[in-house]
Amino acid sequence: MDQMCQRRTTTIRKSLATVVLFGVASLAQAQSAPGAAPTFAKDVAPIFQQKCQTCHRPGQMGPMSLLTYQDARPWARAIKTKVAARDMPPWHMDKTVGIQKFANDISLSEAQFATIVTWVDAGAPLGDAKDMPAPVKWPDGSQWRLAASQGRIPDLIIKSTPWTQPAEGQDEWWQPVVDSGLTEDRWIKAVEVRPSEKGRRIVHHGNSALAEFAVGKEGEIYPEGTGKLMKAGEQVRFDIHYHSVGEEITDQLEVAAWFYPKAYVPKYQFKTMTLGVQQAMDTFDLPPGKVTVHHGYATLSEPTRVLSYQPHMHMRGKAMSLEAIYPNGRTEMLSYVDHFNFNWHINYVYSDDAAPILPRGTVLHITAWHDNTSANKNNPDPRQWVGWGQRSFDDMYHAHMRMVSLTDADYDEIMKERKKTTGTATGQQQ
Ligand code: HEC
Repeated sequence: MDQMCQRRTTTIRKSLATVVLFGVASLAQAQSAPGAAPTFAKDVAPIFQQKCQTCHRPGQMGPMSLLTYQDARPWARAIKTKVAARDMPPWHMDKTVGIQKFANDISLSEAQFATIVTWVDAGAPLGDAKDMPAPVKWPDGSQWRLAASQGRIPDLIIKSTPWTQPAEGQDEWWQPVVDSGLTEDRWIKAVEVRPSEKGRRIVHHGNSALAEFAVGKEGEIYPEGTGKLMKAGEQVRFDIHYHSVGEEITDQLEVAAWFYPKAYVPKYQFKTMTLGVQQAMDTFDLPPGKVTVHHGYATLSEPTRVLSYQPHMHMRGKAMSLEAIYPNGRTEMLSYVDHFNFNWHINYVYSDDAAPILPRGTVLHITAWHDNTSANKNNPDPRQWVGWGQRSFDDMYHAHMRMVSLTDADYDEIMKERKKTTGTATGQQQ
């Protein structure tokens, strides 16, 4: 018996050695050929700096550091898997349809994608260490990120009630309501949300009634002349998703606001809409073992600029699209989140020159797909019928929309500009 084992081990070792040799040979060939395989130092490190290290460095939420070759090399295979599946970086938008210009896009370009995959396939070589880019100077975690652009520290900081997440355990949602302490009405110009420094490891995302913390997101600066009114004595409701990381950690989420000057009243008021939530409550029904489609609609009573789109579903959520049905009957796909993942609450913030500008009477239409089959690896139990509910074992769908109503004159003006530069309202090719 022992002998057999030994023999088998030897055979396996031999075949491993062969594989390694082949690997080295093809790598050497690739490097000497023109258009040689990408190396970490020259090609991959700059991509990791730009697209991965916000989260993958010590003290941040990514489970491992990707700062150095030594950090990254053991993860090469996992990196290829996650990147090829478009799981990492977390950006779940279909890149082949709809608007593609976002202010907070953290996805890889096609070229970056190809570089990473080819690098792993070539054996994940370091290359010449002299090619390594200078390390990024990451901001000190105690600084407010928006302080630089706003020219001062925040005017108001509100902290959530502390929460202690055990070392091991289920994800938790923490929803404290806290007094803002504001004594007069003020218009918000910018807002930033952040966990405590240690808390950054356990917070996936945190919402406050003012804004949202999502990893890699700096906060929100409203376009000039646009604000959100905060009333004297207003309370702030938090909605924070904590997960365990093998160490007990206590966190307080902080929301910071920068206000417009006191006498200033911005022309536009920032508005939010929970698109489709009523239809969801009325019609939601997920039979076991099926992929199910639901819809939600809202008619815009004013010309509108859509600032951002954030699909919301639970563990069976699979995809959600956002379409505009124009008053003239034409429909347009604005955005399609084709590989939704419940762990990531991504708010897709359109860049200014691509944000949808929609005429009065446009119908916004969301289509939500839920996968209640065993093919959905996040599905806790495909045998269950699932109804609408708050617990993550229940499910739901709606889209958090952030928008601004425009006057007719503004609408005409913006459309004239847009048609000059792009030929269409949304910046898409039609
Ligand atoms: C917004 C933050 C964020 C960014 C940006 C990000 N990651 Fe991640 N990454 C995470 C978190 C959190 C996890 C663990 C949870 C998960 O897998 O969703 C993770 C998991 C991973 C894993 C799986 C690790 C394991 O345990 O198997 C790999 C591999 C990975 N990331 C690679 C990358 C690469 C490569 C990039 C850049 C191209 C990147 N990530 C960008 C946050 C991020």
